[in-house]
Amino acid sequence: MRNRRALALLAAASLLVMTSACADDEPDIVDDEVDDIELDDPEAAEYDVLESPPEEDAVEVFTWWTAGGEAEGLDAMIAIFNDEYPEYQFVNAAVAGGAGTAARAVLASRLAAGDPPSSWQGHAGQELIGTYVVAGQLEPLNFLFEEEGWLDVLPEAIIPQISHEGNIYSVPVNIHRANILWYLPEQLDAFGVDVPTTWDEFFAVAEELEAQGVIPLALGEAWTAMHLFETVLLGTMDVPTYDGLWDGTTDWGGPEVAEAIEVFDRVLEYTNPDAPTLSWDQATQLVIDGDAAFNIMGDWAAGYFGAQGLEPGDAGYGWAPVPGTDGVFQWLSDSFVLPVDAHNRDGAIAWLRVAGSREGQDAFNPIKGSIPARTDGDRSLYDEYLLSAMDDWETDEVTGSLAHGTVASDAFKSEIDTAIGLFLSDRDAAGFQDGLVSACTIAGPC
Ligand code: GAL
Repeated sequence: MRNRRALALLAAASLLVMTSACADDEPDIVDDEVDDIELDDPEAAEYDVLESPPEEDAVEVFTWWTAGGEAEGLDAMIAIFNDEYPEYQFVNAAVAGGAGTAARAVLASRLAAGDPPSSWQGHAGQELIGTYVVAGQLEPLNFLFEEEGWLDVLPEAIIPQISHEGNIYSVPVNIHRANILWYLPEQLDAFGVDVPTTWDEFFAVAEELEAQGVIPLALGEAWTAMHLFETVLLGTMDVPTYDGLWDGTTDWGGPEVAEAIEVFDRVLEYTNPDAPTLSWDQATQLVIDGDAAFNIMGDWAAGYFGAQGLEPGDAGYGWAPVPGTDGVFQWLSDSFVLPVDAHNRDGAIAWLRVAGSREGQDAFNPIKGSIPARTDGDRSLYDEYLLSAMDDWETDEVTGSLAHGTVASDAFKSEIDTAIGLFLSDRDAAGFQDGLVSACTIAGPC
């Protein structure tokens, strides 16, 4: 229901959203506050709009990569595109806002208005398939996979996540890991605490940090709370039980979820009170500034640390699996699509060729803080953190992310988001669990 209401409001708002003919590589956007519009994330009522319709030769690529690290990673791939395809004008149509909360609302309004960009960043898995593929909004890309030989260089496990009824619908540019605890080793030394590997250890460490006036865990706006919750779910149950939440074989009303809620509730006690006002990178910045000891975030945070001049290692930033998730790689993948009626279809396909190429992925991912989706990335280009992620991707037990579209449809995710939002304000654990059970009944596999 909420989605439908948001869509209606956004269709009205689409009059405000116009595309740009600018040929440079910077997002050609006008900062504009759009009030009174209900987005997926009600806090994200501020976003950027484009100026005017694109030229014929424009390739308008829509992402939400505007923060430190991710913006520079995109620029690196754009530079390759510009070199290889000088006949096109690249238009960077990025819309600010972590996890795409604002961007995806703008995209929905554009699709409703029959005005798709040339290509957009989506997430492999249920988001892609459950939203855009079933709505008939994407062209199959089997021809491109054949021409480029991508089936030989992508992990077999990812193909079902980008396919529906025998057709492939997107070009995965990376693999991100969601379940990482970030910190600065030198600061932990100064605080006199170790990296927790279990939630009990986390709570003990958190008490010590609080006693020193340090925020134990930096948190940001609403979607980062969902990100935290999915890692707590994974950290309190085994992978088959977690996977069962998404296929209906684990009971949302059962003791495992109750335990996860209890831990989540306690963890929230150790987060910063201004969380709802912070973007994900502002929350990560609290760690860099020494105001907070830890942050749980996907490894785009590695890209952010890099953009702030920090390197992986003892003198820079450190990482560990979220407590209770050692040996598990909670993945997501940014994946580019070819919309039906794409603006400049040939140019869009050219962009997809770059996104799927070894050169494109090896330019983008070392800066973005992700590993290439391709299995033939040049390891010499990746830093210590990313090399560890590449190894873990090979050896760990693998499961998908909720907040970033892998395991749940947008409709199911939106119901869960509503339940989390209520819990953040009323902290009623039993009510939260009931809300999750309803979410699964209304829009999930229950
Ligand atoms: C994720 C996306 C990442 C990164 C992050 C923060 O959803 O997959 O590439 O952009 O949001 O915005």
